[in-house]
Amino acid sequence: MSVIVTRVVVLVVATTVLWLNNETQVAEASDGTGDDEVIRINKHTIRCILVLGDSSVDPGNNNRLPTTTKSNFIPYGIDFFHGRPSGRFCNGRLATDYLAEAFGYTDSVRAFLDPAITKKDLLHGVSFASAGSGYDELTANLSSVIPMWKQLEYLRHYKIHLRNLVGTQEAEEIIRNNTLFVVSAGTNDFLLNYYSDSTRSKQYSIEQYMNYLISRMRTVIKTMRSLGARKVVVVGVPPLGCMPIVRTLRNVEKCDIESNKLAFRFSSKIRRESKMLGRWTLFLDINTIILNAIQNPKRYGFVETLKGCCGSGTYEYGEMCKGMSICSDRTKYVFWDAVHPSQNMYKIIADSALELLLKHTF
Ligand SMILES: *[C@@H]1O[C@H](CO)[C@@H](O)[C@H](O)[C@H]1NC(C)=O
Ligand SMILES: *[C@@H]1O[C@H](CO)[C@@H](O)[C@H](O)[C@H]1NC(C)=O
Repeated sequence: MSVIVTRVVVLVVATTVLWLNNETQVAEASDGTGDDEVIRINKHTIRCILVLGDSSVDPGNNNRLPTTTKSNFIPYGIDFFHGRPSGRFCNGRLATDYLAEAFGYTDSVRAFLDPAITKKDLLHGVSFASAGSGYDELTANLSSVIPMWKQLEYLRHYKIHLRNLVGTQEAEEIIRNNTLFVVSAGTNDFLLNYYSDSTRSKQYSIEQYMNYLISRMRTVIKTMRSLGARKVVVVGVPPLGCMPIVRTLRNVEKCDIESNKLAFRFSSKIRRESKMLGRWTLFLDINTIILNAIQNPKRYGFVETLKGCCGSGTYEYGEMCKGMSICSDRTKYVFWDAVHPSQNMYKIIADSALELLLKHTF
């Protein structure tokens, strides 16, 4: 059953099958999670994308905050529209920008705190994400950035704006039927919190801390559902041991095996939890996607998989990258700085996400 349904809802309870065109085929049976509907999306089902998380999905909310966790300066943004730094921790666009583009309404997802945001931007989605944030509130506090509860608060504000634009019923319908939610966080809870600050490591073993993060994640996603979310993509964590900065800190030649094991374990927990929440949440395994690119660089046009493009490529990111020289061909790098993927890597992640989304039945 690979055929895609356009704006067709199959009510499993009533076993009513509606179809609008001959592309449509029978929907899959209920997975028994108690959800009352099964929806398969195509590009046109999604008109809006709403995003929560960290620097992997922050298009510049931190520009508005009193924090040093920023990237609104060159060389960041050198491949963004007009070569303009936007606050994205990348040379160009993020995976969520490419996803939004694939849905056909906008070429990038705007930052909710951007004062230049338009009505059209609001209709087609925004990001509440904040670089440096995590599932643990303490992680956001350590960098003076936006914690998850506050991002959810912004989502509530967003809904008020949307209601004012299109009316209450239409707003609810857009959120329920036509909006893809993306949540991408977790990396900073380990790198900037558990392994950098002693508060949590005194309180929790690493296993306990992972479970704590998962319980925070569950609360975030359930809150999103209570606000109307019915299509949620939960992104795993990348292979932390391959990040240039981790390789430098651990003084290893290739990827650090221990850190990668940890990232794999945490990603598996995210996968399990998203399965348990039900079909309306879909896990995106960026751990595997990024490892794949690092292990088969040629297939993706990459040459440099270990170093970032900015500065020495071994430790610089954020403020430390400011005004730094960069590599000669950034299209050949998996990493843009010592932490963050390059635009080309994000494009590959977006392509995988899209493929997964088109196969999935929410
Ligand atoms: C984060 O900061 C806020 C405001 O200062 C505080 O109320 C909260 O308890 C802090 N959270 C954690 C987990 O430290
Ligand atoms: C939105 O989804 C609901 C079921 O969740 C359905 O009853 C309704 O007809 C849908 N609206 C549109 C405009 O497709």
